[in-house]
Amino acid sequence: MVGVDASAGMLARARAKAWPERVSFVHAPVESMEEAGAGGAYDAVLAACLLRNVADPDAVLRLVHRLLRPGGRLAAYEYGPGGRPPDRLVRKAVVNGFVRPWARLHGYAELCGHLYRSVPAFDTADVFTARLRRAGLTRVGCLPRPGRQTGITHPFVAQRA
Ligand SMILES: C[S@@+](CC[C@H](N)C(=O)[O-])C[C@H]1O[C@@H](n2cnc3c(N)ncnc32)[C@H](O)[C@@H]1O
Repeated sequence: MVGVDASAGMLARARAKAWPERVSFVHAPVESMEEAGAGGAYDAVLAACLLRNVADPDAVLRLVHRLLRPGGRLAAYEYGPGGRPPDRLVRKAVVNGFVRPWARLHGYAELCGHLYRSVPAFDTADVFTARLRRAGLTRVGCLPRPGRQTGITHPFVAQRA
């Protein structure tokens, strides 16, 4: 198991936890993880809130496709809010009624501002599933989440044929 992140601070938080010996961490942008010694082939890739933040998500998904072994799985946890007007209304209500006040209270206003701008600028759920297919992945799915995340965040799953 290899954990990759471009942020040294995020990796330090991860490394501070207890891990089995087979787990290692690589400090690199995902785009150059192979050059940094984290080439495939992987049984599975888990990308949590990554693809919205990279400059070229299609290129990263093509890389993921290449790094997976045949039959290997991708789970990508992303926002992917629905694009319909009721979905947008729910998202606004959750962000303005809960996320922003919580973030202000805990000193995360800047991070929240990034979320507020980047989530609607990125894919809706159907656009993201199309993106996964375009990268050559198969058995693409968008799973539901319960509670206040309903229709806002999704685990997306896919497989290399
Ligand atoms: C919202 S955080 C999620 C962190 C972690 N995956 C988790 O779920 O707890 C997004 C992470 O993506 C990382 N990131 C953004 N662009 C990246 C890139 N091009 N390569 C590697 N990591 C990147 C950031 O450093 C940050 O740690």
